[in-house]
Amino acid sequence: MTEQQFDRHRITAVTGATGAIGMAIARQLAGHPDNEVVLICRDAGKGARCAAQITGATGNSRVRYELTDLSRQSSIQALADRWPGPLHVLVNNAAVTPRRRECTPEGIERQFATNVLGYFWMIEAFTRCLKHSAPARVINIASYWAGGLDIQDLEFKHRPYDNNAAYRQSKQANRMLTVAFPERLQPFGITVNACHPGDVNSTLSGNLGFGGHESPDDGAKTPVWLATDEIGSRHTGKYFERQREVNCPFAADAKAVVALFAACRSYGI
Ligand SMILES: NC(=O)c1ccc[n+]([C@@H]2O[C@H](COP(=O)([O-])OP(=O)(O)OC[C@H]3O[C@@H](n4cnc5c(N)ncnc54)[C@H](OP(=O)(O)O)[C@@H]3O)[C@@H](O)[C@H]2O)c1
Repeated sequence: MTEQQFDRHRITAVTGATGAIGMAIARQLAGHPDNEVVLICRDAGKGARCAAQITGATGNSRVRYELTDLSRQSSIQALADRWPGPLHVLVNNAAVTPRRRECTPEGIERQFATNVLGYFWMIEAFTRCLKHSAPARVINIASYWAGGLDIQDLEFKHRPYDNNAAYRQSKQANRMLTVAFPERLQPFGITVNACHPGDVNSTLSGNLGFGGHESPDDGAKTPVWLATDEIGSRHTGKYFERQREVNCPFAADAKAVVALFAACRSYGI
């Protein structure tokens, strides 16, 4: 971790930290003793096991988990309300790709709720905390596998549901929303960037049917770099692959970005 910069004790939250890439991100971040890492997960057994494994592997005892259903705004708001102190880095990483169309208890299509609104609500709910902790960073784990967003049909109510199409749409949305937040957050010292992690074998990639040839640790490299290197504080509203900035075509359509932001806001409680 030589090129990574930590100037002080930092608290990082990683969503989906019981999954392949999230666990690797959390472990790499916990590898620095000044970093406190909170695993945001929905299963207490998995959360406890992952926290213990990361502490065992890194020797960092400041690793804990918090239970949250990231597809539900009320659960995310409850997490933010009980959050005990600062938050310097938020890694939005949790995602699902159910093969059949499913809905949350609130009736929202599950991929859109988890992969898009989950990221959006986390940023909104933690904005005040991030401001108080600034300089702070948000890293949205997106993908190069992105596209096909239909602002009129974000929940696949009118198109036939296909988990690949819903997934690509959700990852396009992650990249578009990464452009929408900087003007709101940069004045307060908060950067927001997105990245493609890597092609990693996981529940998610298995559901999409593409497997994955990279290790979770490889997949964690770019997110961890954005969370720790000074590049992640110097840039905002950017998209990265393999530790390089890549031009994002979805960021160019300012009207569409505004429309998506407004659509996400309309889901507020
Ligand atoms: N794998 C790849 O090749 C690849 C490529 C490009 C981008 N990505 C992106 O990388 C990120 C991580 O993917 P992955 O491959 O590591 O997936 P994964 O192993 O399937 O992990 C997904 C994580 O999200 C959690 N999660 C799902 N729904 C949740 C909810 N409602 N509340 C709380 N947690 C929830 C899962 O919790 P449980 O453990 O409880 O199920 C799990 O920890 C995703 O954003 C994905 O789009 C992955």
